Order: sequence, then structure tokens, then C-alpha cells
Amino acid sequence: MKRLDETLRKTYIQYLEDHVSKKRLVHSLGVAETAVRLALRYGADPAKAEAAGLLHDCSKGLSPEEMVATARAFGMRPDEYQLVNPELLHPYVSAMLAARDLGVTDGEVLTAIRRHMCGAPDLSTLDAVVNLADYIEPSRKYPDVDEIRRLAEGSLFDTLCTALGRTMILTIRQGSVLHPDTLLTWNALLLRPKSEKEKKHD
Ligand SMILES: [Fe+2]
Ligand SMILES: [Fe+2]
Repeated sequence: MKRLDETLRKTYIQYLEDHVSKKRLVHSLGVAETAVRLALRYGADPAKAEAAGLLHDCSKGLSPEEMVATARAFGMRPDEYQLVNPELLHPYVSAMLAARDLGVTDGEVLTAIRRHMCGAPDLSTLDAVVNLADYIEPSRKYPDVDEIRRLAEGSLFDTLCTALGRTMILTIRQGSVLHPDTLLTWNALLLRPKSEKEKKHD
């Protein structure tokens, strides 16, 4: 099984130890392991899944103000939704820190990191694997997590659609901002041709 280079793995974990909380480190390790498993099951590159899983939240140690300032320092112009809820910026800032501080150059890894929260209408299998791993990694606790974990064994994009829909409902119930990109992803997942939905590699 192709896995992430051991030296890189140690470097990424050290970076997380230095920049995010212990809880976030445990979550990131869980996402990486789960992403590897899903990658093998659904035909994505496990080494890229592991790298994106480890680094997807590497900017989470920043305060909301630092998140906005860092995004701007990298040349981003946060939109009105991201300014109201800077949490929406963390996938982009994580990808930019991964590139700047850890030398990640792989476009697929950086894209999977960028898309792990709001997704995109044209999610790749790797993007979907990292997204779903973020929902179901072992330390995740929410009421229907076990159901989503069970569904994830049988389908990738359908399960991601279910998980995303429930998250959108929660977001709306909380009165929080729902980014338009999330809605575009939801519609694209619903309209995805059946034949493209499930390609399982057992
Ligand atoms: Fe995240
Ligand atoms: Fe995460």
C-alpha cells in the first residue's frame, strides 16, 4: 500500500503539535487514517489522502482575526460570508500554510484541503474522501455519526451528500451563515449522474 513518506509524515505531525491543540491533532490523525481507508476503498491515492487529512485543519490554531489577516496576507479577498464567519476561511488558509510552511506542492492535495468544508460542484474522489473522513473519523461525536459511518462503507458521494445535507440543516437551525459554495456542492451532489456515484474498489 502506497503511504505518505515517513519523514514527511513526522514533519507534518510536528507542525500540528506546534500549531494546533491536542484535540485538533487527534482529530487530524483520525481524518488521515480514515481518509487512507476510504481512498483504498473508493480508488483515490492513499498517500495524498493521508497528507490532506493530516493538514486540512493546520490553520485552526489561528484566532478569527488572525485567520482574516493571514488570508489577506496571502492575497485573498475574503467575501462577505467569510468576514462574518472567519471559520469559513480555514480551509484556504490551511492550504496556503501547507504550501508555504511545509512545501506541499501537489495540486490535488492542496485542492482537497481547500475544499474540505464547503466542497465544490466538481469534487474529485480525493476531495470527497477527505470531506467524508472529516465527518466520520473516530474522535467525531454527533448524534447520527454511527449511521454516517455505516453508510460510508457502502457509498462515497451519496454518504457525503447525506452528511452535508444534515450539516446544512444544523447550520440553518443555528441561524449561522451558509456559504453559497456549500449550496452549489449540495446541488451538484444531488444531480451527480448515478453511474459516477459509486465506484468501489474492494
Ligand atoms: Fe476543517
Ligand atoms: Fe477537520
